[in-house]
Amino acid sequence: MKPIKFRNTLTVNLLLMIVISFFGTYAVMIVISKMDTFINPNGSILKAGLLLTFWFSIVILTFIVIFTLLIRKKILYLSYISETVQQIANGKLGLTIDIKGKDELSQLAGNINYMSKELENKFIHERQLEKVKNELITNISHDLRTPLTSIIGYLNLIKRGQYENKDQFHEYFETIYSKSHRLKHLIDELFEFTRLSSPDAMLNLSKVDLASLLQQIVGEYIPMFEEEQLAARSSITDEDIPVLIDVEKMVRVYENLIMNAIKYSVKPSEIQISFTSRRNTAVLQVSNRVENPPEEDVNKMFERFFRGDKARIDAQGTGLGLSISKRIVELHNGDIRAEYKDGWISFIVEHPLFK
Ligand SMILES: Nc1ncnc2c1ncn2[C@@H]1O[C@H](COP(=O)(O)OP(=O)(O)O)[C@@H](O)[C@H]1O
Ligand SMILES: [Mg+2]
Repeated sequence: MKPIKFRNTLTVNLLLMIVISFFGTYAVMIVISKMDTFINPNGSILKAGLLLTFWFSIVILTFIVIFTLLIRKKILYLSYISETVQQIANGKLGLTIDIKGKDELSQLAGNINYMSKELENKFIHERQLEKVKNELITNISHDLRTPLTSIIGYLNLIKRGQYENKDQFHEYFETIYSKSHRLKHLIDELFEFTRLSSPDAMLNLSKVDLASLLQQIVGEYIPMFEEEQLAARSSITDEDIPVLIDVEKMVRVYENLIMNAIKYSVKPSEIQISFTSRRNTAVLQVSNRVENPPEEDVNKMFERFFRGDKARIDAQGTGLGLSISKRIVELHNGDIRAEYKDGWISFIVEHPLFK
């Protein structure tokens, strides 16, 4: 909605009221002058002076009465506007004024309505942000506390010498070590997430051939695919696909997609990775088999802290990987989404080509 522009109709209205008041006064004077009592040419000077004053007062009074009657509606409307503005100022955001007429006052009312709605929207948005922030803090505290509690627990056992032999000591030690790593991983992901969430997140852009970059990344994961009994079917174009990206950040996105495919795939099965360019976009698709079709909207996976059942068992899952990926892809003016079809889940990343 755009604020309405002012026109000059209030001045015209006021002038019209003055003219009407003038003619009204003139008419009243004619009526009065017809009455005998007021026409007395033979009176004394004093009497004549009084009469003049009396006449003059009648003229002024008549003018004021007529003018006040004419302008009354406008004044009432103005005080109604002023009252509503007062209420908006006191916190009744979103309150609107009835629009009456088509002059500057109604335009002022329209602008106040616009301001009131905008303030309400901003307020709702702020409240939403506050809620999201609080949720984030709750989730973070919970996720950080879990490994920390376990670390403290095992450290206590060691401190009190509550282990039976060297093997058990090593077992406790290993748990502490892996939980500490989990804690570090969580903090790193959180740090990355908050850094990228800030409106002034910066990209360190450079021009690269995405096809060869992806070939290299996928190549590095081949041993892991084999280890996890996953056959990688990769079809990455040999063409040069130039893109302008922050390599470090986009590699993070691709690695998260491949790691997710490995972690959450049915095993043994296969993982399909394809990369081509369509019109002005580079399109990467990573697909893997899943046991159960996702119940809800697949794109819920991009919400922060979303973790499926399997990820809850997997100690390294934070539920932040995909939301970080989404933010990174969006910072590059690209698009990332998930699709599910016949037991296959696919993640598709689209990126504008560099020309
Ligand atoms: N390729 C995939 N196949 C099946 N489920 C997936 C896949 N990728 C992600 N998910 C689901 O989405 C959740 C969020 O993924 P992500 O944001 O990368 O967090 P994380 O891997 O740390 O749990 C995962 O826990 C998992 O349940
Ligand atoms: Mg992940």
